Amino acid sequence: MNFQSGRHFLQIPGPTNVPDRVLRALSKPTIDHRGPEFADLSLEVLAGLQHILQTSGPVVVYPSSGTGAWEAALVNTLSPGDKVLMFETGHFATLWYHIALAFGLEVDFVPTNWRHGVKPEIVEKKLAEDKNHRIKSVMVVHNETSTGVTSRIPLIREAIDRAGHPTLLMVDTISSLASIDYRHEEWGVDVTVGCSQKGLMLPPGLGLNAISQRALEAAKSARLPKSYWDWQAMLAANKIGFFPYTPATNLLFGLREAIRMLEEEGLSNVFARHDRHAEATRQAVRAWGLEILCENPAEYSSSLTAVMMPAGFEADALLKLILEKFDMCLGIGLGKVKGNIFRIGHLGHFNDLMLAGTLAGLEMGLSLAGIPFSKGGVAAALEYLEGTFKSG
Ligand SMILES: Cc1ncc(COP(=O)(O)O)c(C=O)c1O
Repeated sequence: MNFQSGRHFLQIPGPTNVPDRVLRALSKPTIDHRGPEFADLSLEVLAGLQHILQTSGPVVVYPSSGTGAWEAALVNTLSPGDKVLMFETGHFATLWYHIALAFGLEVDFVPTNWRHGVKPEIVEKKLAEDKNHRIKSVMVVHNETSTGVTSRIPLIREAIDRAGHPTLLMVDTISSLASIDYRHEEWGVDVTVGCSQKGLMLPPGLGLNAISQRALEAAKSARLPKSYWDWQAMLAANKIGFFPYTPATNLLFGLREAIRMLEEEGLSNVFARHDRHAEATRQAVRAWGLEILCENPAEYSSSLTAVMMPAGFEADALLKLILEKFDMCLGIGLGKVKGNIFRIGHLGHFNDLMLAGTLAGLEMGLSLAGIPFSKGGVAAALEYLEGTFKSG
């Protein structure tokens, strides 16, 4: 590829742009992970994560990708042959389902058309029918990164409560954490699965679980094999700021800085910023005359927007052209929707002018690729952004 001057535009829905402050923190000299400076670092980070996840319970952090944190949630709470309820909301829900199958769980995997989230009424019906309480866990991806659809966790919690069922609730918040409002404790989530490379503005390499009291109870009798992922060893060491094995020390330096940045901005402002950029993006997509994959406005994602290509046009060729001409990468379609959609990431370290640049690159790309569309998406988005200053 030819030399490209200026900053690369990383507009996939994770990994996201890493702020300079975080990059500098990552580059500190590595310290002894058994010394007092490390204990201060990890205790600050673990407390900060509790605030971000909105929980007073424990949070554990693994040197892993998000997939590791998915596995940790299962192996710590379930036993071979346990039944779980999952929903095929997209590519990532399907990957989590395959992990459950690999561990010998019996999965009721409810299909969807990938254009809407988990329907609370189906959760309620399935649980009400499960008279013998065989379902040990309901597992939901909060924000489906492959489709730009956000399932409504509070409504799912209410559905579980209406059914009067003792199931655990496990939620993947990988592409919503620190981007879309998420409340582990208030929403009665038992295990939350997260990772570093999205709203937390870090490179990949950290996976995390937030754990409820009920999940800790379930862990006492869970018989799936585990060693690296075992919460018990981690929780015992974490109490005094240490890890049972070598942690990703420099990523924790970065995480401390990222948490400080999120606290300086204020979590509610972080969420409002994401909502506003998502709405501006949708205004652009509509002005282009293109269709948003998510069909329920109540489930629009604030961290990414998935856009459908006009019939007969291929998304990957468009994204290749945009990368070559404008040094910007956007998310390709994954799994079932490969080639039919592209995804605009608008999460993490991001602002109005970065969004303007992203949409401008797309608008020029659509034009150069000969895609049938109407110009004016960038203008519509800018007008919306400007209007929000006037209205409030
Ligand atoms: C919603 C969701 N869950 C899980 C994962 C898997 O995480 P990782 O690729 O870090 O293992 C991803 C990755 O993008 C994701 O978006």
